[in-house]
Amino acid sequence: MHLNIACIPGDGIGPEIVAEAKKVLNAVCDRYGHTIEYKDVLMGGCSIDAYGVPLTQETIDICKSKDAVLMGSIGGDAKTSPWYQLEPSKRPEAGLLAIRKALGLYANLRPAYLFDELAGSCPLAMPKGEKTRHFDLIIVRELTGGLYFGERWTKEVDGVLTAQDTLRYNENEIRRVAKTAFEIARKRRHKVTSVDKANVLDSSRLWRKVVHEVAKDYPDVEVNDMLVDNTAMQLVRYPEQFDVVLTENMFGDILSDEAAMITGSIGMLPSASLKEGSFGLYEPSHGSAPDIAGKGIANPIATILSAAMMLRFSFGLTKEADAVENAVKKTLADGYRSIDLMPKDETKSQFTQQNCSEMGDRICERI
Ligand code: IPM
Ligand code: MG
Repeated sequence: MHLNIACIPGDGIGPEIVAEAKKVLNAVCDRYGHTIEYKDVLMGGCSIDAYGVPLTQETIDICKSKDAVLMGSIGGDAKTSPWYQLEPSKRPEAGLLAIRKALGLYANLRPAYLFDELAGSCPLAMPKGEKTRHFDLIIVRELTGGLYFGERWTKEVDGVLTAQDTLRYNENEIRRVAKTAFEIARKRRHKVTSVDKANVLDSSRLWRKVVHEVAKDYPDVEVNDMLVDNTAMQLVRYPEQFDVVLTENMFGDILSDEAAMITGSIGMLPSASLKEGSFGLYEPSHGSAPDIAGKGIANPIATILSAAMMLRFSFGLTKEADAVENAVKKTLADGYRSIDLMPKDETKSQFTQQNCSEMGDRICERI
Protein backbone atom coordinates (compact mmCIF):
# COMPACT_ATOMS: atom_id res chain seq x y z
CA MET A 1 0.00 0.00 0.00
CA HIS A 2 1.11 3.60 -0.56
CA LEU A 3 0.56 5.91 2.40
CA ASN A 4 0.28 9.57 1.47
CA ILE A 5 0.23 11.74 4.55
CA ALA A 6 0.47 15.39 5.54
CA CYS A 7 2.59 16.25 8.57
CA ILE A 8 2.14 19.21 10.87
CA PRO A 9 5.22 19.19 13.10
CA GLY A 10 4.05 22.47 14.68
CA ASP A 11 5.73 24.21 17.61
CA GLY A 12 7.68 23.42 20.75
CA ILE A 13 8.60 19.74 20.96
CA GLY A 14 6.35 19.04 17.93
CA PRO A 15 9.13 18.73 15.32
CA GLU A 16 11.21 16.46 17.61
CA ILE A 17 8.41 14.00 18.33
CA VAL A 18 7.07 13.95 14.76
CA ALA A 19 10.58 13.08 13.52
CA GLU A 20 10.51 9.97 15.74
CA ALA A 21 7.02 8.98 14.60
CA LYS A 22 8.19 9.23 10.98
CA LYS A 23 11.16 7.03 11.80
CA VAL A 24 8.84 4.39 13.24
CA LEU A 25 6.40 4.66 10.31
CA ASN A 26 9.29 4.22 7.90
CA ALA A 27 10.43 1.13 9.81
CA VAL A 28 6.97 -0.43 9.81
CA CYS A 29 6.47 0.33 6.10
CA ASP A 30 9.85 -1.27 5.28
CA ARG A 31 9.01 -4.32 7.32
CA TYR A 32 5.57 -4.86 5.76
CA GLY A 33 6.30 -3.78 2.18
CA HIS A 34 4.48 -0.44 2.07
CA THR A 35 5.66 2.89 0.75
CA ILE A 36 5.08 6.19 2.47
CA GLU A 37 5.38 9.84 1.53
CA TYR A 38 5.15 12.89 3.78
CA LYS A 39 4.34 16.49 3.01
CA ASP A 40 5.25 18.84 5.86
CA VAL A 41 3.01 21.87 6.32
CA LEU A 42 2.92 24.72 8.82
CA MET A 43 0.29 25.36 11.44
CA GLY A 44 0.21 27.19 14.77
CA GLY A 45 2.94 29.55 15.93
CA CYS A 46 5.34 28.63 13.12
CA SER A 47 2.64 29.56 10.63
CA ILE A 48 2.12 32.90 12.40
CA ASP A 49 5.86 33.55 12.07
CA ALA A 50 5.87 32.63 8.38
CA TYR A 51 2.51 33.97 7.16
CA GLY A 52 1.02 36.04 9.98
CA VAL A 53 -1.85 33.60 10.53
CA PRO A 54 -1.97 30.28 12.45
CA LEU A 55 -3.58 28.37 9.56
CA THR A 56 -3.48 29.06 5.83
CA GLN A 57 -5.83 27.82 3.14
CA GLU A 58 -2.80 26.13 1.55
CA THR A 59 -2.27 24.00 4.67
CA ILE A 60 -5.96 23.04 4.70
CA ASP A 61 -5.91 22.16 0.99
CA ILE A 62 -2.79 20.02 1.30
CA CYS A 63 -4.21 18.17 4.30
CA LYS A 64 -7.46 17.53 2.44
CA SER A 65 -5.58 16.10 -0.53
CA LYS A 66 -3.82 13.42 1.59
CA ASP A 67 -5.06 10.20 3.22
CA ALA A 68 -4.35 11.35 6.77
CA VAL A 69 -2.59 14.01 8.82
CA LEU A 70 0.05 13.39 11.46
CA MET A 71 0.49 16.27 13.87
CA GLY A 72 2.96 17.11 16.62
CA SER A 73 1.78 19.97 18.78
CA ILE A 74 1.18 23.69 18.49
CA GLY A 75 1.46 26.73 20.72
CA GLY A 76 4.04 28.29 23.01
CA ASP A 77 4.44 29.75 26.46
CA ALA A 78 1.43 32.03 26.91
CA LYS A 79 3.40 34.29 29.29
CA THR A 80 6.44 34.91 27.14
CA SER A 81 5.62 34.13 23.52
CA PRO A 82 4.68 37.06 21.24
CA TRP A 83 2.01 34.83 19.67
CA TYR A 84 -0.09 35.51 22.76
CA GLN A 85 0.05 39.28 22.27
CA LEU A 86 -2.23 38.71 19.28
CA GLU A 87 -5.98 38.70 19.59
CA PRO A 88 -7.42 35.25 20.47
CA SER A 89 -8.60 34.47 16.93
CA LYS A 90 -5.02 34.87 15.59
CA ARG A 91 -3.20 32.74 18.17
CA PRO A 92 -1.83 29.23 17.54
CA GLU A 93 -4.80 27.44 19.19
CA ALA A 94 -7.19 29.16 16.78
CA GLY A 95 -5.39 27.31 13.97
CA LEU A 96 -6.06 23.99 15.66
CA LEU A 97 -9.77 24.72 16.12
CA ALA A 98 -10.04 25.98 12.55
CA ILE A 99 -8.37 22.92 11.03
CA ARG A 100 -10.64 20.58 13.02
CA LYS A 101 -13.63 22.45 11.62
CA ALA A 102 -12.27 22.79 8.07
CA LEU A 103 -11.48 19.07 7.86
CA GLY A 104 -14.82 18.10 9.44
CA LEU A 105 -13.16 16.11 12.24
CA TYR A 106 -16.12 15.75 14.57
CA ALA A 107 -15.08 12.69 16.55
CA ASN A 108 -12.05 12.91 18.79
CA LEU A 109 -10.82 9.61 20.23
CA ARG A 110 -8.67 9.83 23.33
CA PRO A 111 -7.70 6.51 24.87
CA ALA A 112 -6.48 6.41 28.47
CA TYR A 113 -5.01 3.15 29.67
CA LEU A 114 -2.46 2.08 32.13
CA PHE A 115 0.60 0.36 30.67
CA ASP A 116 1.46 -2.62 32.88
CA GLU A 117 5.08 -1.52 32.63
CA LEU A 118 4.18 1.89 34.09
CA ALA A 119 1.50 0.82 36.58
CA GLY A 120 3.68 2.22 39.36
CA SER A 121 3.16 5.77 38.03
CA CYS A 122 -0.61 5.66 38.43
CA PRO A 123 -1.39 8.34 41.04
CA LEU A 124 -4.61 6.68 42.21
CA ALA A 125 -4.88 4.76 45.46
CA MET A 126 -5.31 1.02 44.97
CA PRO A 127 -8.92 -0.21 45.17
CA LYS A 128 -9.52 -2.11 48.43
CA GLY A 129 -8.23 -5.66 48.37
CA GLU A 130 -6.55 -5.33 44.95
CA LYS A 131 -2.87 -5.30 44.06
CA THR A 132 -2.98 -3.80 40.60
CA ARG A 133 -5.10 -1.39 38.63
CA HIS A 134 -6.29 -2.27 35.14
CA PHE A 135 -8.20 0.42 33.36
CA ASP A 136 -8.53 0.90 29.64
CA LEU A 137 -11.02 3.49 28.50
CA ILE A 138 -11.48 5.70 25.49
CA ILE A 139 -13.09 9.11 25.47
CA VAL A 140 -15.05 9.96 22.34
CA ARG A 141 -15.26 13.74 22.39
CA GLU A 142 -17.44 15.73 19.99
CA LEU A 143 -14.95 18.10 18.38
CA THR A 144 -16.60 20.58 16.04
CA GLY A 145 -19.61 21.89 17.98
CA GLY A 146 -20.72 23.16 21.36
CA LEU A 147 -19.12 26.02 23.26
CA TYR A 148 -15.99 25.95 21.10
CA PHE A 149 -17.87 26.96 17.98
CA GLY A 150 -20.95 28.77 19.29
CA GLU A 151 -21.45 32.49 18.89
CA ARG A 152 -19.38 34.48 21.37
CA TRP A 153 -18.96 38.13 22.22
CA THR A 154 -17.65 40.57 24.81
CA LYS A 155 -19.36 43.94 25.09
CA GLU A 156 -20.84 46.42 27.49
CA VAL A 157 -24.40 45.61 28.44
CA ASP A 158 -26.11 48.32 30.46
CA GLY A 159 -22.73 49.82 31.22
CA VAL A 160 -21.28 46.53 32.50
CA LEU A 161 -18.60 44.62 30.62
CA THR A 162 -20.20 41.27 29.76
CA ALA A 163 -19.11 38.18 27.85
CA GLN A 164 -21.14 35.36 26.39
CA ASP A 165 -20.37 31.96 24.86
CA THR A 166 -23.02 29.75 23.32
CA LEU A 167 -23.38 26.00 23.80
CA ARG A 168 -25.37 24.82 20.83
CA TYR A 169 -25.87 21.36 19.31
CA ASN A 170 -28.27 20.01 16.76
CA GLU A 171 -29.43 16.40 16.70
CA ASN A 172 -27.38 15.52 13.62
CA GLU A 173 -24.16 16.62 15.28
CA ILE A 174 -24.98 14.46 18.29
CA ARG A 175 -26.12 11.47 16.25
CA ARG A 176 -23.00 11.14 14.13
CA VAL A 177 -20.56 11.24 17.05
CA ALA A 178 -22.79 8.89 19.07
CA LYS A 179 -22.62 6.41 16.20
CA THR A 180 -18.83 6.60 16.26
CA ALA A 181 -18.86 5.81 19.99
CA PHE A 182 -21.18 2.81 19.59
CA GLU A 183 -19.15 1.44 16.67
CA ILE A 184 -16.00 1.67 18.78
CA ALA A 185 -17.74 0.02 21.74
CA ARG A 186 -18.56 -2.93 19.47
CA LYS A 187 -14.85 -3.49 18.92
CA ARG A 188 -14.14 -3.21 22.64
CA ARG A 189 -16.11 -4.19 25.76
CA HIS A 190 -19.56 -3.18 24.47
CA LYS A 191 -20.25 -0.39 26.95
CA VAL A 192 -20.93 3.32 26.33
CA THR A 193 -21.17 5.85 29.14
CA SER A 194 -22.72 9.04 27.78
CA VAL A 195 -21.71 12.06 29.83
CA ASP A 196 -23.85 15.19 30.08
CA LYS A 197 -25.31 17.74 32.45
CA ALA A 198 -28.95 16.94 31.72
CA ASN A 199 -30.06 18.10 35.15
CA VAL A 200 -29.26 21.66 34.04
CA LEU A 201 -28.65 22.09 30.31
CA ASP A 202 -31.08 21.87 27.39
CA SER A 203 -28.22 20.88 25.09
CA SER A 204 -27.56 17.94 27.42
CA ARG A 205 -31.19 16.86 27.45
CA LEU A 206 -31.13 16.76 23.64
CA TRP A 207 -27.80 14.93 23.82
CA ARG A 208 -29.30 12.25 26.06
CA LYS A 209 -32.40 11.81 23.89
CA VAL A 210 -30.41 11.39 20.68
CA VAL A 211 -27.86 9.04 22.25
CA HIS A 212 -30.66 6.75 23.36
CA GLU A 213 -32.20 6.80 19.89
CA VAL A 214 -28.85 5.76 18.42
CA ALA A 215 -28.47 3.10 21.14
CA LYS A 216 -31.54 1.29 19.75
CA ASP A 217 -29.46 0.31 16.71
CA TYR A 218 -26.82 -1.24 18.99
CA PRO A 219 -28.73 -3.66 21.26
CA ASP A 220 -25.45 -5.51 21.92
CA VAL A 221 -23.94 -2.38 23.52
CA GLU A 222 -24.85 -1.39 27.06
CA VAL A 223 -25.48 2.34 27.46
CA ASN A 224 -25.69 4.42 30.61
CA ASP A 225 -25.84 8.15 31.30
CA MET A 226 -23.62 9.90 33.79
CA LEU A 227 -23.56 13.52 34.84
CA VAL A 228 -20.28 15.22 34.11
CA ASP A 229 -19.49 16.20 37.71
CA ASN A 230 -20.05 12.63 38.84
CA THR A 231 -17.91 11.38 35.92
CA ALA A 232 -15.04 13.58 37.06
CA MET A 233 -15.28 11.94 40.45
CA GLN A 234 -15.74 8.38 39.14
CA LEU A 235 -12.63 8.74 36.98
CA VAL A 236 -10.43 9.13 40.03
CA ARG A 237 -12.46 6.70 42.14
CA TYR A 238 -12.77 3.66 39.88
CA PRO A 239 -11.81 4.22 36.21
CA GLU A 240 -12.08 0.46 35.64
CA GLN A 241 -15.86 0.94 35.27
CA PHE A 242 -15.47 2.77 31.94
CA ASP A 243 -15.10 1.41 28.42
CA VAL A 244 -16.23 4.11 25.94
CA VAL A 245 -17.01 7.55 27.36
CA LEU A 246 -19.03 9.67 24.95
CA THR A 247 -19.34 13.39 25.54
CA GLU A 248 -19.61 16.89 24.10
CA ASN A 249 -16.70 19.13 23.24
CA MET A 250 -15.99 21.07 26.45
CA PHE A 251 -16.73 18.23 28.87
CA GLY A 252 -14.50 16.01 26.73
CA ASP A 253 -11.69 18.54 26.82
CA ILE A 254 -11.73 18.58 30.60
CA LEU A 255 -12.34 14.88 31.22
CA SER A 256 -9.68 13.82 28.74
CA ASP A 257 -6.99 15.75 30.63
CA GLU A 258 -8.17 14.13 33.84
CA ALA A 259 -8.18 10.68 32.23
CA ALA A 260 -4.67 11.30 30.90
CA MET A 261 -3.37 12.23 34.33
CA ILE A 262 -4.56 9.04 36.02
CA THR A 263 -2.41 7.00 33.65
CA GLY A 264 0.55 8.65 35.34
CA SER A 265 2.04 10.12 32.22
CA ILE A 266 0.47 12.32 29.60
CA GLY A 267 3.53 11.67 27.43
CA MET A 268 2.12 8.27 26.47
CA LEU A 269 -1.35 9.02 25.16
CA PRO A 270 -2.28 9.27 21.48
CA SER A 271 -5.43 10.67 19.89
CA ALA A 272 -7.33 10.53 16.63
CA SER A 273 -9.74 13.06 15.20
CA LEU A 274 -12.02 11.52 12.61
CA LYS A 275 -14.80 12.25 10.16
CA GLU A 276 -16.94 9.76 8.23
CA GLY A 277 -14.80 7.44 6.16
CA SER A 278 -11.13 6.87 6.71
CA PHE A 279 -9.59 10.35 6.84
CA GLY A 280 -8.23 11.48 10.19
CA LEU A 281 -5.81 13.73 12.02
CA TYR A 282 -3.59 12.07 14.60
CA GLU A 283 -1.78 13.86 17.38
CA PRO A 284 -0.47 13.24 20.88
CA SER A 285 -2.85 14.19 23.69
CA HIS A 286 -0.20 16.40 25.25
CA GLY A 287 0.82 19.92 24.32
CA SER A 288 3.93 21.55 22.88
CA ALA A 289 5.91 21.65 26.16
CA PRO A 290 7.82 24.85 25.31
CA ASP A 291 9.89 24.46 28.51
CA ILE A 292 11.73 21.42 27.12
CA ALA A 293 11.55 22.23 23.39
CA GLY A 294 14.83 21.85 21.52
CA LYS A 295 16.49 19.87 24.32
CA GLY A 296 15.84 16.52 22.65
CA ILE A 297 14.41 15.01 25.82
CA ALA A 298 10.69 14.84 24.96
CA ASN A 299 8.88 11.53 25.12
CA PRO A 300 7.91 10.61 21.52
CA ILE A 301 5.65 7.69 22.51
CA ALA A 302 2.30 9.52 22.36
CA THR A 303 3.06 10.62 18.79
CA ILE A 304 4.32 7.17 17.82
CA LEU A 305 1.12 5.63 19.22
CA SER A 306 -0.86 8.28 17.32
CA ALA A 307 0.86 7.05 14.16
CA ALA A 308 -0.29 3.53 15.13
CA MET A 309 -3.87 4.82 15.41
CA MET A 310 -3.43 6.30 11.92
CA LEU A 311 -2.34 2.92 10.53
CA ARG A 312 -5.38 1.31 12.15
CA PHE A 313 -8.12 3.83 11.42
CA SER A 314 -7.09 5.56 8.19
CA PHE A 315 -5.35 2.67 6.45
CA GLY A 316 -6.91 -0.43 8.02
CA LEU A 317 -3.39 -1.77 8.64
CA THR A 318 -4.10 -3.74 11.81
CA LYS A 319 -0.95 -5.92 11.85
CA GLU A 320 1.21 -2.87 11.31
CA ALA A 321 -0.55 -0.90 14.07
CA ASP A 322 -0.15 -3.86 16.42
CA ALA A 323 3.53 -4.03 15.52
CA VAL A 324 4.05 -0.41 16.56
CA GLU A 325 2.12 -0.80 19.80
CA ASN A 326 3.93 -4.01 20.68
CA ALA A 327 7.29 -2.40 19.92
CA VAL A 328 6.44 0.41 22.36
CA LYS A 329 5.47 -2.09 25.05
CA LYS A 330 8.62 -4.15 24.43
CA THR A 331 10.80 -1.05 24.65
CA LEU A 332 9.29 -0.23 28.04
CA ALA A 333 9.51 -3.84 29.19
CA ASP A 334 13.19 -3.85 28.21
CA GLY A 335 13.72 -1.01 30.66
CA TYR A 336 14.11 1.98 28.33
CA ARG A 337 12.58 5.19 29.63
CA SER A 338 12.38 8.77 28.43
CA ILE A 339 13.17 11.26 31.20
CA ASP A 340 9.53 11.89 32.13
CA LEU A 341 9.09 8.16 32.78
CA MET A 342 12.17 7.73 34.99
CA PRO A 343 11.29 6.95 38.62
CA LYS A 344 12.62 9.50 41.09
CA ASP A 345 13.60 6.92 43.71
CA GLU A 346 16.36 4.28 43.93
CA THR A 347 14.48 1.97 41.48
CA LYS A 348 15.72 4.22 38.68
CA SER A 349 18.92 2.17 38.47
CA GLN A 350 16.84 -0.61 36.86
CA PHE A 351 16.11 1.57 33.83
CA THR A 352 18.03 3.02 30.92
CA GLN A 353 17.33 6.69 30.34
CA GLN A 354 16.92 7.66 26.69
CA ASN A 355 16.57 10.95 24.88
CA CYS A 356 13.84 11.55 22.31
CA SER A 357 15.67 10.18 19.30
CA GLU A 358 17.16 7.21 21.19
CA MET A 359 13.66 6.27 22.33
CA GLY A 360 12.56 6.34 18.65
CA ASP A 361 15.53 4.13 17.72
CA ARG A 362 14.74 1.56 20.45
CA ILE A 363 11.14 1.34 19.21
CA CYS A 364 12.25 0.99 15.54
CA GLU A 365 14.58 -1.85 16.49
CA ARG A 366 11.60 -3.71 17.96
CA ILE A 367 9.29 -3.36 14.94
C1 IPM B 1 -7.08 19.91 23.32
C2 IPM B 1 -6.57 21.30 23.65
C3 IPM B 1 -7.30 22.28 22.75
C4 IPM B 1 -8.78 22.16 23.03
C5 IPM B 1 -6.81 23.74 22.90
C6 IPM B 1 -5.34 23.84 22.65
C7 IPM B 1 -7.57 24.67 22.01
O1 IPM B 1 -6.76 21.58 25.00
O2 IPM B 1 -6.88 19.46 22.19
O3 IPM B 1 -7.64 19.28 24.23
O4 IPM B 1 -9.27 22.77 23.98
O5 IPM B 1 -9.46 21.43 22.31
MG1 MG C 1 -7.49 19.97 26.12
